[in-house]
Amino acid sequence: MLGDYSSKKSDDFCEDVCGQGSRFGSGINRLLCVLRGYDVKTWITFLVVVPFLVLGIYWHHQKITFFLRPLWESPPKPFNVMPHYYQESVGMEHQCRLHGWGVRSSPRRVFDAVLFNNEVEMLSIRWQELSPYVDEFVLLESNSTFTGLPKPFIFQSEKQKFEFVKSRLTYGRIGGRFRKGENPFVEEAYQRVALDQLLRAAGIKDDDLLIMSDVDEIPSGHTVNLLRWCNDIPPILHLQLRNYLYSFEFHHDDSSWRASIHRYQKGKTRYAHYRQSDLLLADSGWHCSFCFRRISEFTFKMRAYSHSDRIRFQHFLNPKRIQDVICKGADLFDMLPEEHTFRELIGKMGNIPHSYSAVHLPAYLLNHADEYKYLLPGNCVRESE
Ligand SMILES: *[C@@H]1O[C@H](CO)[C@@H](O)[C@H](O)[C@H]1NC(C)=O
Repeated sequence: MLGDYSSKKSDDFCEDVCGQGSRFGSGINRLLCVLRGYDVKTWITFLVVVPFLVLGIYWHHQKITFFLRPLWESPPKPFNVMPHYYQESVGMEHQCRLHGWGVRSSPRRVFDAVLFNNEVEMLSIRWQELSPYVDEFVLLESNSTFTGLPKPFIFQSEKQKFEFVKSRLTYGRIGGRFRKGENPFVEEAYQRVALDQLLRAAGIKDDDLLIMSDVDEIPSGHTVNLLRWCNDIPPILHLQLRNYLYSFEFHHDDSSWRASIHRYQKGKTRYAHYRQSDLLLADSGWHCSFCFRRISEFTFKMRAYSHSDRIRFQHFLNPKRIQDVICKGADLFDMLPEEHTFRELIGKMGNIPHSYSAVHLPAYLLNHADEYKYLLPGNCVRESE
């Protein structure tokens, strides 16, 4: 009844005002007309609910779009996963045969090439793990992060930690381009092209094995050993790695696939970090993201990496908050997992459960457990320097 009355009243009002309104005023008048039609309760609800809705969408639009990802993005084509057979006491000839390959009379040469940012600890663990199987380590670093922030040549100043690869190291430095407001993926692509040149300078030849991966994507030594000893391995093979976050205490899933191993072909092989084939070798190592010793390294990486737009609020960089997030296995950017089905998305929402297994981790890590304590279960507290 009341509704009828007010809407009638507003209609009258509108006819009055809108009939004689000037061109400029008519839009506003029309809006006023419409708004007049509601009673006080509706008004209050409107004034309270709308700002909250707008703020909520403003604060959480990323979460909302991520939650709806299964609707707007179809899952990538699944990989063809190759079974991986390994046990310490199985001989190489038999290992190759289990994979349908023959054994070679001598191993291929192996090149491990990385773009280095600031992952000093992960680089030590990586190179120690791979050292028995790699002929040449190739490392390129820039004095610009992918997001165009200046950074010192960190590897240069930490070189003394890497004496053990000195005779097998090709080290390159490249000056950043420092373009303001550019998409970080452009600087990343630029650095990868420079890494291709450095690889040629390092003397890579056809059919040498080339590992393409980020520093924190560590293939297990036995995987590289298998691939260098066997004939007939595919020209490009992606490596399925176990995903860890912050340390080996938080085992997220096993779906890391970006690392790859190539039989190098001059003029054809390009250093890349995207999908280059459909073949994925199962259980081939570890991917430990944000596995830093110091809180300052977390903030540096958060600002340096290609998704720095995820720092929506300055308090994300607060050291105390970061420490809490690490110990909880929560997300540094307060984001939802990137999944393509609701089932997986919902299954992975919330904190990563603690893992108490330190079985089959890189040997160097376990042999130097005191030095790398923060990477092992039960030691989430970081050095605040
Ligand atoms: C970055 O390195 C290049 C080459 O070494 C040098 O010319 C340039 O001045 C450096 N820039 C900064 C900001 O450090």
